[in-house]
Amino acid sequence: EKGGFDSFMDKEIHDQPQAVADTLLGRTDATGALVLDDLRIDESVLRAVNKIIVVACGTAAYSGHVAKYAIEHWCRIPVEVELAHEFRYRDPIVDERTLVVAVTQSGETMDTLMAVRHAREQGAKVISIVNTHGSTIPRESDAVLYTHAGPEIAVASTKAFLAQITAAYVLGLYLAQLRGNKFPDEIARLLDDLRAMPRKIQTVIERGEYVRATARSMEKSDKVLFLGRHVGFPVALEGALKLKELAYIHAEGFAAGELKHGPIALIDEGQPVFVVVPSPRGRDSLHSKIVSNIQEIRARGARTLVIAEDGDDAVRPYADEIFWIPQAPTLLQPLLAVVPLQIFAMALATAKGLDVDQPRNLAKSVTVE
Ligand code: F6R
Repeated sequence: EKGGFDSFMDKEIHDQPQAVADTLLGRTDATGALVLDDLRIDESVLRAVNKIIVVACGTAAYSGHVAKYAIEHWCRIPVEVELAHEFRYRDPIVDERTLVVAVTQSGETMDTLMAVRHAREQGAKVISIVNTHGSTIPRESDAVLYTHAGPEIAVASTKAFLAQITAAYVLGLYLAQLRGNKFPDEIARLLDDLRAMPRKIQTVIERGEYVRATARSMEKSDKVLFLGRHVGFPVALEGALKLKELAYIHAEGFAAGELKHGPIALIDEGQPVFVVVPSPRGRDSLHSKIVSNIQEIRARGARTLVIAEDGDDAVRPYADEIFWIPQAPTLLQPLLAVVPLQIFAMALATAKGLDVDQPRNLAKSVTVE
């Protein structure tokens, strides 16, 4: 069943282009407009929404962080992202005009289920983004948007994460269309950008051997840091989580702008730091900001492992290793930038002789609070 791969995780990483393509499939009508047939919430209710709260745990919550950047940018609706267990127990402000989006691969995570119940009791509408058909959370939601990643067997989530991000983009574009925030041709263009992603993800996977070789050379590392800005920030958090889960290495993700507010004190000679670099073609100063962050940490001895877009020559002088990814709009870049980090964690765990499909102390679905 591993399809010739050494682990389910390796197979599932390779399934990612398909998972994203399948999650995009059948979402438009003959005119090219987005239609979400499975979203059974009245359009007038969705038009009246004045706040979105994404609730989820772990990797699924990081997909929610990406969703926040995209949905706020496209729809101009405030989006909060909250760990489901924190949301449930802090008396959140939720009412009929709040849309709660619950993201879950298994559809069974108890913390997320309790958050869904609490939100509905307060009168909110709940849309769940779920991978597993027939699970509990979609049954208890007002509507469901399925990801089509197929069954995910490895405990550490990979393809479900990419499919969750994809579904969140689809939801964001659908809301933008419904609420008139974007012209149809703008939506069509963004959908074309999205449909180009599976091929680019494939390219990143094909470049995986360089990442694996780097990971093998870092078997002795005991601490790895991850930096990103904007949507690169949740990618950094996810890269750190994968490494903790799989390789049992202390790993932390930071927003690069936080460096001088504390974390830069962690940098000493040889400290490996991954940095997710946004597209240099973006309009604002995001890119130059992160290039200065790379310079800052390198000047203090960090070994910089940089994920950058093809053609981004500005990072070359400051990078010890560069993992190149194809060009893509900044908001969509997480679908590419996270892949080398998944491969890195898997390869490092394998080099340490660990079971990447079944890390210690973890279960695939957490059905207790
Ligand atoms: C990390 C991982 C977990 C899950 C989390 C939520 O690799 O798999 O962090 O993402 O337990 O699970 P679901 O998505 O099933 O609600």
